[in-house]
Amino acid sequence: MPNDESVAERIAQLREQLRHHAHQYYTLDAPQIPDAEYDRLFQALEALEEAHPELRTPDSPTQRVLGQVLEGFTPVRHAVPMLSIRTETDTEATGALAFDARVRRELGLTESDPPVEYGAELKFDGLAINLRYENGLLVQAATRGDGEVGEDVTQNIRTIRQIPHRLKGTRAEVLEVRGEVYMRRDDFDKLNERQRESGGKTFVNPRNAAAGAVRQLDPNITVQRPLSFFAYGLGDVKGWAVPPTHSAMLDALQAMGLPVSDERMVAQGADGPNGLVVFHQTIGAKRDQLPFDIDGIVYKVNRRDLQERLGFVSREPRWAVAHKYPAQEQLTQVEAIDIQVGRTGKLTPVARLKPVFVGGVTVTNATLHNLFELRRKRVRVGDTVIVRRAGDVIPEVVSVVSAVPRASYVPNFRMPRHCPICQSTVEREPGEMNHRCSGGLFCAAQRKQALLHFAQRRAVEIEGLGEKLVDQLVDGGLVRTLPELYKMGVAKLAALDRMADKSAQNIVSALEKSKHTTLPRFLFGLGIRHVGEATAKDLAKHFGKIDALMDATEEQLLAVNDVGPIVAHSIRTFFDQPHNREVVEQLRAVGITWPEHEPAQTAQEALPQAGRTFVLTGTLPSLGREEAKALIEAQGGKVAGSVSKKTTYVVAGAEAGSKLDKAQELGLTILDQDGLLALLNIDPGSIQDGRA
Ligand code: IVH
Repeated sequence: MPNDESVAERIAQLREQLRHHAHQYYTLDAPQIPDAEYDRLFQALEALEEAHPELRTPDSPTQRVLGQVLEGFTPVRHAVPMLSIRTETDTEATGALAFDARVRRELGLTESDPPVEYGAELKFDGLAINLRYENGLLVQAATRGDGEVGEDVTQNIRTIRQIPHRLKGTRAEVLEVRGEVYMRRDDFDKLNERQRESGGKTFVNPRNAAAGAVRQLDPNITVQRPLSFFAYGLGDVKGWAVPPTHSAMLDALQAMGLPVSDERMVAQGADGPNGLVVFHQTIGAKRDQLPFDIDGIVYKVNRRDLQERLGFVSREPRWAVAHKYPAQEQLTQVEAIDIQVGRTGKLTPVARLKPVFVGGVTVTNATLHNLFELRRKRVRVGDTVIVRRAGDVIPEVVSVVSAVPRASYVPNFRMPRHCPICQSTVEREPGEMNHRCSGGLFCAAQRKQALLHFAQRRAVEIEGLGEKLVDQLVDGGLVRTLPELYKMGVAKLAALDRMADKSAQNIVSALEKSKHTTLPRFLFGLGIRHVGEATAKDLAKHFGKIDALMDATEEQLLAVNDVGPIVAHSIRTFFDQPHNREVVEQLRAVGITWPEHEPAQTAQEALPQAGRTFVLTGTLPSLGREEAKALIEAQGGKVAGSVSKKTTYVVAGAEAGSKLDKAQELGLTILDQDGLLALLNIDPGSIQDGRA
């Protein structure tokens, strides 16, 4: 047993560390250690204080919610403190059983009493926000801060489209809604991709990107960061009869137009078919497929009268608990850095890691994206790093723990001058962040990736043509181009190592089957840079025939939905290469076909509002915002969130604010509801009141 002096020292040390990391996390949005590591330190401190209550102090990190007001935001005192919830770190089912047992004990229930009812929901991984509505209007939004005093971030929160500025069906004098601002994973990936391409700073995870965006002093930056919101609770309420259960309260918030996650249930007790344990398992199994990060789930006693009876202990309600899942970020060591060559020749540095369990799987490799990002993060072989694996995405190195100062960073990894696969020179175009192998389809790595891309399910789908077989085909010199895939016979295939006659026959049948495809799949399969599935569909719809697409000018390509200059240029460049046209011709010659469609009518005929951008502001007499948006979009128009020179029309209703001012300033055309309907050629009589 250590003596008291060393215990006191250890406690002081832990508090110091926790304060430092809390400041990094909450105030600077720049965490240096994974959450799981922070939790471990926190629990170590809690345990020591538990064992030595005499050493507990009111200012210990265990006694308060951390976080401070940044200079630059107005402090807001919360009418009702924003507390946090106790975390059940046991990631197994027993975590739920323990909580239920505790609740039952505290309510004085015996075994013969019926199960306690719980609201079970997701624990969103973002930033807690208090939205204050007065008489149905959003008047203030504040961060949690230290729980008592937060920051006024109203202007930033107003940029989040999902958050209604006006509640439906209530004029409650005061209604404070609490919830989480978060960033979807796809939005986060796109944001980082953009940052990476422009050489900007990338964000370590969606939560930090969201927190950073909300706490931007400039709302113009916030508006460029795609944020989302889910409501999960209440703060101060005056003039509204709060429903008697948590689940009914969430239903009511949803009916008011607030986003509430559908991934929730009313559970009866912990075990049993409708219990908490089932919810924990169900969500655990689909965690990777959710479009956003969660770090666990939350159980709340459903009945409010029981919540009141249970009350609070220091900073946490006794009626709620967070039940965690395995962390999506962990510490490990970089053992080596290798280079991977992708389909487009991009050279990606990949960290070989000491195996580590992250987000439910063992991870041994993580991407470092490109040389610049590797350097910006100051990664070196031998470093201890945070790896993140969330959803189905490739694990990545997010940061180095205690990175050396920028000035003294000496990288111990170099980008090779020659492709490690084909020895062609490695190039980097001016202004590009990526190094590329110049070998093109001469490079076996690029050939393999191109074949796999073409063969994947979302493209022409060649069942059974996986990585192993492609390796054999390319390394054995059997296949160099896509059309050659279709030219090898069963005999050649069957002659491959470990290939039975039957499997060879199966591949040949799969190849035959893949010949009947669709134009979008075929286009996507070609692997033109920047042409993903969605763009391929748009192109096919617009041009109808591949020859029309192959001959389209950049200008004609720009007329396609969502095709910008970069995509148009990439498509043009692709079809300017004679060998690419040759590939298309040969693929048609071997019998690949798709049903032909007439090209869409000219954009003007098919979609009269195509190419026009609308901004909606204020309240229209009978059209809801979503409804108006849907009508505009149905005719090809775009609805944007802010007014700029690119705006075609501003549709203004009652209490239109600064957007209307700006529109007038810019001399834009301003429409009212009737004007909009006339433009869209819609009979006003056919519109039912969408606001009610
Ligand atoms: S309830 C008094 N419900 O987790 C109860 N919190 O420690 C207050 N969080 O930062 C919180 N999802 O932002 C609650 N479904 C959920 C939540 C949730 C995420 C966050 C919350 C706070 C922390 C609580």
